[in-house]
Amino acid sequence: MITCSAPGKVYLFGEHAVVYGQTAICCAVELRTRVHAEKSDDVQILSVLGNTGFDMDVHPYISHVIRMMCDLADIKGVRLHIESELPVGSGLGSSAAVTVASIYALNHLYDCGLSLDEVAKAAHVIERKVQGSASPTDTYVSTMGGVVMVPQRRKISLLKCPIIIGNTNRFSSTKELVGNVADLRNEFPSVIDPILSNIGQMSKLAEELVTKHDYLTLGKLMNVNQGLLDAIGVGSFELSSLVYAARNSGAISAKITGAGGGGCMFALAEDEEVFQVAKSIEDVGGEAIITKNTREGVRMESFNG
Ligand code: MEV
Repeated sequence: MITCSAPGKVYLFGEHAVVYGQTAICCAVELRTRVHAEKSDDVQILSVLGNTGFDMDVHPYISHVIRMMCDLADIKGVRLHIESELPVGSGLGSSAAVTVASIYALNHLYDCGLSLDEVAKAAHVIERKVQGSASPTDTYVSTMGGVVMVPQRRKISLLKCPIIIGNTNRFSSTKELVGNVADLRNEFPSVIDPILSNIGQMSKLAEELVTKHDYLTLGKLMNVNQGLLDAIGVGSFELSSLVYAARNSGAISAKITGAGGGGCMFALAEDEEVFQVAKSIEDVGGEAIITKNTREGVRMESFNG
C-alpha cells in the first residue's frame, strides 16, 4: 500500500484573470488530500462521495486518472481510498489535489517513471477533461507547492503570516463561474478586459511585497482584487459577509479564493488576531479553518511493499 498527499491552494491574486493569460499568485496551503492506493483484482474507489468502481459520474477525476495510468502500466485493478481536509467545490483546489495525489500514487505503485512536471501536466489534462476548461494553475501548485507566480511558474517567498479560510459551505461550480465571466466579457469586452488586466497588474506589483513581507501593503491590493472579483460577478452575499466580518475583526485583508459564487474566502492576519478573525467568520455563519502556506507539493507519505 502506498499513501501520497497533495495540498490545496488559495489565490493571493488573479483567479479568473489567469484564464485570460494574466499573471496570478497562487499559494499552496497545508490542507491535504491523501490517497491510499494498493493493487487489487478490480477497481475500487472509496471517498466521502461514495464507494464505487470505475465511475465517471461519482469519481470523474480518479476514474480519468486510472484510465490514463492504464496506458502507462499494466493495471488489472486498484483500490484507492481518498481522505481529504479540503472541502469539495470550495475554491481550495480539492479536485487538483485529488488528481495530483492519485497520479503520483499510481506512478510509484506501478513504476511509471513520470517526472513532477509530467504529473502536473497529466493532472491538468484531466481537470480540463472533467471541467471543460481549467488553467494549469491549481494542478501545478498542488504538485510543486510554495507560493507561485503564474503563468511564469516562478516560486517566490513563502508568507510568514497565518491564513484563515472561511467556508460558506455552498458548493460552487468552477465551470459555471468561468462560463459566466466569459459571457460578461463577450458582452462588454471594453469594460471587462481592463478589469482582468488590472488584476494581472496587481499580481505583478505584489511579487515585491511578498518578497519584502510587507503584508499591510499587500493586503490593500488584495482588498482591491476582491472589489474587482465582485465587479465581474463572482461574489455572493455569503462571501461578502465573511469578507467584511474578517476585515472588521482585524484581518489585514480578505478576499475570495478560486471560482467564487460560493466556496471559500480567506484572510491574512497577524498572529495575535487569528482567533478573533476565525471567530468573526463563524459568528456570521461561515466555517473557519486556520492554516498556513506550505513549500511542499505532492509527496509520498508511506510505501509498504
Ligand atoms: C479556480 O480555482 C480558478 C479559476 O481561475 C479557474 C482556473 O484558473 O482554471 C477561476
